[in-house]
Amino acid sequence: MENQNVKVTALPNGPLMVEGNVTVVKKDGTAENKENKSFLCRCGHSGNKPFCDGSHKKNNFQD
Ligand code: FES
Repeated sequence: MENQNVKVTALPNGPLMVEGNVTVVKKDGTAENKENKSFLCRCGHSGNKPFCDGSHKKNNFQD
């Protein structure tokens, strides 16, 4: 049987790194399947929420 474990890691001053196969449901109800690794915004500045688009760097997100 396939391992279904998913690991979520908060990267320092950056997004949540999700390792594993997941389905991300966006606020409009559409779903996107992500395989292996994905990055979710936790700074609030991404133009592609809920995914990280790198905007945390230019906004100097610190946690
Ligand atoms: S964490 Fe990368 S854009 Fe928000």
